Amino acid sequence: MKKKIGILVSGRGSNMLAIIKASKESTFPGEVAIVISDNPDAPALKKAQDNGVKAIYIDPGRKGAYLSTQAETQYAEVLKKHGVDIVVLAGFMRIIRKPLLSAFPNSIINIHPSLLPAFPGLNAQKQALDYGVKVAGCTVHFVNEDVDAGPIIIQSCVPVLQDDTPETLSQRILKEEHKILVEAVKLLCEERIKIEGRRVLILPQQG
Ligand code: GRF
Repeated sequence: MKKKIGILVSGRGSNMLAIIKASKESTFPGEVAIVISDNPDAPALKKAQDNGVKAIYIDPGRKGAYLSTQAETQYAEVLKKHGVDIVVLAGFMRIIRKPLLSAFPNSIINIHPSLLPAFPGLNAQKQALDYGVKVAGCTVHFVNEDVDAGPIIIQSCVPVLQDDTPETLSQRILKEEHKILVEAVKLLCEERIKIEGRRVLILPQQG
């Protein structure tokens, strides 16, 4: 049976679209059941709908980094109502707390545009450029109560070029984001991920 995926978005939705497109392949072990945005104007909402996926706005209840507790409870209820097994934060600009974390233990993942634990938080690509690193990249990790800090599932790196701007570096990283996020979702759907403390083990394919 295919796992059901719920995706939370706030903006453009290119990572979301990568998952939706991959999930249309008949061999993909998951299907996208619902997309939810905290931003009514997120281009991601229309992109999901144009691809035949239910996508809704749910009022975040407050401004800032968190959802209100009431709103977060509603997000969890709507995801459960759609039978969601795995929650993907794909450019979702809110920090997740108890209502969602306890509703989906070890089942919420995030994509971050840096090689964590370097450069957590906002503007990670600019942070990397300003620091002067020669290699940058992206990370898919489990979400816990701390920002960009849960166990790491997959990382991918790209070179930083001498004439890079935050935009050109972001573009190079984004291509890798799409690949590793789809791969991590696939592994989770196949139940091939085991968490041992901070380490994430990838189990071999069945059969
Ligand atoms: C991506 O760079 C992602 O890593 C970060 O926010 C951006 C979202 O882009 N968390 P998109 O909405 O998936 O196009």
